[in-house]
Parts: sequence; C-alpha cells; structure tokens
Amino acid sequence: MADPAPLLTVRDLSVTFPTPRGPVRAVDSLSFDVPHGRTLGIVGESGSGKSVTSLAVMGLHTGAEVTGSVTLDGRELVGLPDRELNRLRGRRTAMIFQDPLSSLHPYYTVGEQIAEHHRVHFGSRRAAARARAVEALAEVGIPEPKRRAGEYPHQFSGGMRQRVMIAMALVCEPDLLVADEPTTALDVTVQAQILDLLARLQQERRLSVVMITHDLGVVARVAHEVLVMYGGRAAEQAPVDALFASPAHPYTRGLLDSLPRLDDPDDVPLRAIPGSPPSLLDPAPGCAFAPRCARAAAGTAEERDRCATERPVLGGHRGHAAACHFAAFPAVPTYEGIAP
Ligand SMILES: Nc1ncnc2c1ncn2[C@@H]1O[C@H](COP(=O)(O)OP(=O)(O)O)[C@@H](O)[C@H]1O
Ligand SMILES: [Mg+2]
Repeated sequence: MADPAPLLTVRDLSVTFPTPRGPVRAVDSLSFDVPHGRTLGIVGESGSGKSVTSLAVMGLHTGAEVTGSVTLDGRELVGLPDRELNRLRGRRTAMIFQDPLSSLHPYYTVGEQIAEHHRVHFGSRRAAARARAVEALAEVGIPEPKRRAGEYPHQFSGGMRQRVMIAMALVCEPDLLVADEPTTALDVTVQAQILDLLARLQQERRLSVVMITHDLGVVARVAHEVLVMYGGRAAEQAPVDALFASPAHPYTRGLLDSLPRLDDPDDVPLRAIPGSPPSLLDPAPGCAFAPRCARAAAGTAEERDRCATERPVLGGHRGHAAACHFAAFPAVPTYEGIAP
C-alpha cells in the first residue's frame, strides 16, 4: 500500500539572493511533493532556478533568504540549525551533481572516501566501512569492486566516476536522493546506463528521487511526476504521461518541440525556443514567458495585453496544473474527489 504522506513536501518556497544590483528572486513560490518511492523530474532551461531549488531543499543556502516550508517526513527543514541539517544530509538525504570530480578528493582512493562517509554517519568500524564500500561499488555495477576500491578518482572514466558518486550517496541508505544534472557531462550511451541504474536503485530501495535536468528526454526515462520551471516559477506540473501527451503550457510545448526525434534520427528539426530566459533582477509584471511565447504572439491584442501585464497563477485539472492564461488542457471531464 502506498504511504499516504509524501516524504518531501515543499510549500511556497522562495529563495532570494541579495546582489549589488538588487534582490534576485531565483525561486518564487514553488510547491511540490515527492511521495515515497517516486521520482520527480524538475526540468527547465539553464537559469530557471533548478539548482537553487535543490540546494534549498538540502538546506545548503548561505547568504540567501529562504522562505516557505520544506518538510522531510513531516519535519520542517527551513530554519533548522546547520548541525541538525548536517546530520540529515547523508543519513536521510543525499545529493549527486553533474561533475563527480569536484566532489571526490583526488588524493584518497574511492574506497577510502566511501568508507569514510559511512564511518562519519554510522560510526562504523574501519574494516566494516571498507567492506560496505566494496559492496556499494558492486551495487552500482563497477566490475572488480574490491580492486577498484583501491584506485583513485582519476583512474575512473566519467561514467564510472558517476557510479562512484552514486555509491557514495547511497552507502548510508538515504530516503531521498537529489540528482542535479547527473548525466549531462556524459555521452549518450553512458548517460542511458546511468539513468537505468538510478531507476533500478530507486525501485529496489523505494527511494524518493528529485531528478534535475534541462533535458525532457531524461525526464521521460525516469520521472513519475514532472515540474517544469521557468524564471524561478512553476510553469507546469503533471504526471509524466500527461505532460508528454498533453502539455498545457506553451513553454512545455516549446521544450518538447526542441527534443530530437528518436523515432526518426534523420529528421531533426531542433527548434530551440527563440529568445532567452527572463531577467530575475527586475521581473516584468505579466507572464515571464510572454516575450517568447508563440501562443501569446498569436493572440488577439487583448490577449497579448493580458499576458504582458497579468501574472498567471497555477491552475488546472486535478494533478495537472499550468501557469498560463491560455493553458491548453484536453477537454476531458474531471472527477473531483476521486483520486487518480
Ligand atoms: N549565489 C547567487 N547569487 C545571485 N544569484 C544567483 C545565485 N545563485 C543563483 N542565482 C540566480 O539564480 C538563477 C537560477 O540559477 P540556477 O538554479 O543555478 O539555474 P539552473 O536552472 O540552471 O540550475 C541564476 O540565473 C542566477 O540569476
Ligand atoms: Mg543547475
């Protein structure tokens, strides 16, 4: 039976950086849930606030004003003292990044680093921690794990290094894994292998995962639910099938149009969305996407004016929401009160 309460609950999360040119609100009023054993994909172009969101969830922002609520298993994390956050990180939550080398120490073997991580969080003895490190390397598909545990990070390929990071993240058996562009630096074949590995581990361990990516192809492969971000806000939130079958926000449709077509590799109309993301320093009053939006451009003068001056709020059918005045939901009846 599914756990009724989500593991991670984010409500009205905003993150504002003070800068010499004024406050930059990099994340604005974001709300989402990650249930036990589910994967949320957060997708959007570079600069849309994905990494800032993930760091806020992990309590890793210093110098930024963080408001709203982030709860893990019902426990509020916003405002928690660093010491307690540190304890949660590693034991309950773990994070992996695009560039594993920046997180691995060049002078210690990967086995030592994974074992040390285990020792810090579990107080385990040296020999037990080493054995656990070798097991962890085996679990993430590193051949000859015992021998490779004695090697240094530079002796591993990019894909194998990312496997090492996953082993490190999972050795303390966290409930929540936040992965920020974990496969972006890898070539396509290795990327697919790492995504399959993450999907397998997620299922086997009933992990909750937040998968951050600029690539809807990655989302399609691993996510159950999707949050599309634009300019620090939620543009669209939906179960993955609904998002791909009937994208409601013009921005989501633009992202989908710019995906390479896997069914016909010769036909690659890579139509990138024209224009560039909005300035967060001095946000316009209306819809942040309006200047780039095909729907707004095709609208009547009255509609265009509405997009330019009135900020859309998230709304929609049960479980599928978009922040667009002209969101295109499929014309199907909704059955309020009946869970999907
Ligand atoms: N430390 C910081 N100080 C000021 N602004 C920041 C800082 N970190 C991030 N930002 C702003 O937040 C925006 C979103 O950043 P980020 O979350 O890294 O985007 P992405 O979606 O590419 O991960 C950036 O474009 C930048 O304007
Ligand atoms: Mg980022």
